[in-house]
Amino acid sequence: MAQIIGSVTTSHVPAIGRAIARNLQADPYWKPFFDGFAPVHRWLREAKPDVVVIFYNDHGLNFFLDKMPTFAVGAAAEYRNADEGWGIPEVPPFKGEQKLAWHLIEQLIARDFDLTTCQEMVVDHALTLPMALLWPDHERSGWPVRIVPVCINTVQFPLPSAKRCYALGEAVGEAVRAWKSDERVLVMGTGGLSHQLDGERAGFINKDFDLQFMESLVHDPRWATQYSIHELVEKTGTQGVELLMWLAARAALGNGPVKRVHQNYHIPISNTASGLMLLEPAAR
Ligand code: DHB
Ligand code: FE
Repeated sequence: MAQIIGSVTTSHVPAIGRAIARNLQADPYWKPFFDGFAPVHRWLREAKPDVVVIFYNDHGLNFFLDKMPTFAVGAAAEYRNADEGWGIPEVPPFKGEQKLAWHLIEQLIARDFDLTTCQEMVVDHALTLPMALLWPDHERSGWPVRIVPVCINTVQFPLPSAKRCYALGEAVGEAVRAWKSDERVLVMGTGGLSHQLDGERAGFINKDFDLQFMESLVHDPRWATQYSIHELVEKTGTQGVELLMWLAARAALGNGPVKRVHQNYHIPISNTASGLMLLEPAAR
């Protein structure tokens, strides 16, 4: 059976792409952010994932406001970046892991999740940048993993509840572990942590809540499910609700104990409190 080897959750601010393109990793503004990834790179060299299941939110690129699935799973052979601009170099296309994608789709629909299945899909900064942060050599050597994208709507209300996103993550985890294959699967979740890009509270960040949320993922993973979406927006900002991806990724690890391998938190990157966490199932 396939094995889930861990989860990496991280923020996905577009400015990161420009910083990579301009080689600003050692710049004083960027250093505390990029330095956070060194332990993850070391871990990945040992852990050697074959496949990534990545929870992220599309920002109006693949899905626009006229058609907005609550949950969507990619089952495409290939995913190309078609981001919002910034004039940065394009990343190489991502290869889809179609067998796992269809296995997940079948298992999730059998468990009453009403998914949108996408046999064609373009991807935005929320997928490309976290991948580029984990595999900075991608321009030379390509991506060493195949992917299955799982989109959760955090762009257009109504949004799925934290409780429902946790249940989705749990079901994804169980389906991956039931996949008849020897593949090593890494789960990723991208977005958050607290940030608000628009309106009167633009620039809003809530460090206390973010740190409590990160801690909860280790010791009490359902903690955030006590909050409604509106409470989460109040506590983390309109775009801070992207933390739902972290919750789904954590839930995919299952309900056993987890080991915190690494964590970084840095304020701000652009308008965002940037977080990074690497967890492993403790029994691994
Ligand atoms: C920013 C953060 C995001 O999550 C996003 O999708 C776009 C922009 C920002 O802080 O600039
Ligand atoms: Fe975002």
